[in-house]
Amino acid sequence: QKGGYKHFMLKEIFEQPKVIADCLAGRVDLAAGRALLPELASLPTPERLFIVACGTSFHAGLWGMYLLEQWAGVPTRVEIASEFRYRDPILLPGDVVVAISQSGETADTLAGIRLARERGAKVIGLCNVVGSSVARESDVVVYTQAGPEISVASTKAMCSQLTALTLLALSLGEITGRMSRQARVDCLANLEKLPSVLEAELPRMRERAAVLAKTFSESSSFLYLGRGPYYPLALEGALKLKEISYIHAEGYAAGEMKHGPIALIDPRFPTFALAPVDELFPKVKSNLEEVQARGGKIIALTNPGSDLRVDHVWEIPKAWGPLTTFLMLPALQMFAYEMADYLGKDVDQPRNLAKSVTVE
Ligand code: M6R
Repeated sequence: QKGGYKHFMLKEIFEQPKVIADCLAGRVDLAAGRALLPELASLPTPERLFIVACGTSFHAGLWGMYLLEQWAGVPTRVEIASEFRYRDPILLPGDVVVAISQSGETADTLAGIRLARERGAKVIGLCNVVGSSVARESDVVVYTQAGPEISVASTKAMCSQLTALTLLALSLGEITGRMSRQARVDCLANLEKLPSVLEAELPRMRERAAVLAKTFSESSSFLYLGRGPYYPLALEGALKLKEISYIHAEGYAAGEMKHGPIALIDPRFPTFALAPVDELFPKVKSNLEEVQARGGKIIALTNPGSDLRVDHVWEIPKAWGPLTTFLMLPALQMFAYEMADYLGKDVDQPRNLAKSVTVE
């Protein structure tokens, strides 16, 4: 069942091109620049969105916020479900809650859905498992079409959640009139290209990840940095590394560095930076110069055309706008995977963790 791969996690990382294609199937009208989500037809256009989720699904939600606010202009707040459910949130008529869950059985996310509905908000379940509790208890469901995910560490599910969130932002961007038709056409055309670009890139990515993992296998702690939509990715990179390789890692917004974490930088504390060549690149670059000035070693995921001079420049292709995320995410997953495998950890069944957290 592992299809010739050593672990389910590796198989699932390699399935991501197909996952993107499956999640897009039947949901793209390219000529009209339209994302088709008929599931949402019964809902009013949200005045505000609340995204509620846990773990990797929370990171996907945080990423979605950048697109939803920029493309659709809908104020969006993203919350960890275990906080949302106990903090007496103010929900107004017109608010819509998006509950994101791969398994559809996460106890805190379900409690968030129940609370939101009790308070009169409509709930969109963004979920992978048909007939799951999240699917049953939400007002409408958008299935993420990732197929069964076996490895405890979530990989392809996040990729599918990001795809679905991109479609949601496009769809709302059309409804609110904030995103031009041309921008929507460009985005959708580039989304459709992602599977083949990623397919070609994954084997190369794995080789590079394996070399880097070996180089850094004695590090006991990592800092992951990113800005904008790559900040949630920094959080996700750190989560992947800690959950399967048991190496401590922290994800930070790169601009927060000088507000504390910079004190930790020394030659034994490496930084993994997300540095796509975009409008925030100069800012990330200057954050990395601060790390270098303190002797910190750096791995930087970046794109061709970057003039970064750091210890390990890891170039991956650039995609349209924030879609570069879809190429950076598997690199982060691969690095964590290769590290855990090199260190001899139980990749698919990490200690102390369950695939779905059905108790709080
Ligand atoms: O099934 P869910 O998406 O609701 O699960 C949420 C988290 O438990 C899950 O993403 C967890 O953080 C993974 N182990 C991360 O790899």
